[in-house]
Amino acid sequence: MKATGRVAIVTGGGGGIGGAIAEELATHGARVVVADLDADAAQAVTDRINAASPGSAVAAGADVSDTAAIGDLIALAQQRFGPVNLYFANAGVLGVPGLEAGEADWDRVIDVNLRAHIRAAQLLIPDWVERGEGYFISTASAAGLLTQIGSATYAVTKHAAVGFAEWLAISYRDSGVRVSCLCPMGVNTELLYGGEKSGDPRGVAATRAVTSAGVVLEPAQVARDVLAAIDEERFLILPHAAVADMFRQKAADYDRWLRGMRRYQASLLDDIR
Ligand SMILES: NC(=O)c1ccc[n+]([C@@H]2O[C@H](COP(=O)([O-])OP(=O)(O)OC[C@H]3O[C@@H](n4cnc5c(N)ncnc54)[C@H](O)[C@@H]3O)[C@@H](O)[C@H]2O)c1
Repeated sequence: MKATGRVAIVTGGGGGIGGAIAEELATHGARVVVADLDADAAQAVTDRINAASPGSAVAAGADVSDTAAIGDLIALAQQRFGPVNLYFANAGVLGVPGLEAGEADWDRVIDVNLRAHIRAAQLLIPDWVERGEGYFISTASAAGLLTQIGSATYAVTKHAAVGFAEWLAISYRDSGVRVSCLCPMGVNTELLYGGEKSGDPRGVAATRAVTSAGVVLEPAQVARDVLAAIDEERFLILPHAAVADMFRQKAADYDRWLRGMRRYQASLLDDIR
């Protein structure tokens, strides 16, 4: 699908990968609702977009895991620009490192990293099927194909996000709905360094497991890869090509892969302590 002239909603658009996707969309001639829990951050991205492409973006402060809030975003897009063509379920949180994560911690991460995707799809897909067109882009993570050392909440919810995106693609592609799933390793954003800043050795390991495994990309590069994949209507978006090899190695010998991950985690924790 060409983004030119399309209407998009980008969640977590107040910075990082979402902010870069929103800016890249506008560069391609799309009109964008920039949604973020941090309304000021969403406004700042929107101001930048509108300075370059007047009238192309509108900001919304919203918790995008809330069904009513997602409905409001869809209504805002419709009222300002027209029916939504592309939805970027991109907002994400890292969560709590280990088994001490309580019910409320799990609920929060499941809500943002998974249920937000399900709730958006429930609101959008019936209309897209009727129109015979629409594009759902899930930001999961390489942690959804491999795993996330140092954060069970993140590893589990990102696997679930990949699973949901796969299911959508299988169920609705023949009705005209396109689906892509973004699975990067390290990208230079607040979220990547959240674990390091927490001071908890497992959080520090979570950050270093990613930064030591490959190059840390800039959000703008990832956004260009996303737009290229949408243009080609390709499901899996891997800005780090090495993730495909790691995923193949995991599938080829799961026990060997688990042994390697245990050794990797131990070496990271040894360096930290
Ligand atoms: N940075 C990385 O290395 C990396 C790697 C793989 C995947 N990802 C994923 O990319 C996505 C974007 O993260 P980022 O790296 O740009 O981090 P980021 O922290 O820069 O951006 C995340 C944004 O989501 C917003 N947000 C969080 N919860 C929200 C909610 N309930 N409603 C609305 N907005 C909410 C935050 O305010 C923030 O602006 C996430 O899903 C993340 O898991 C990041």
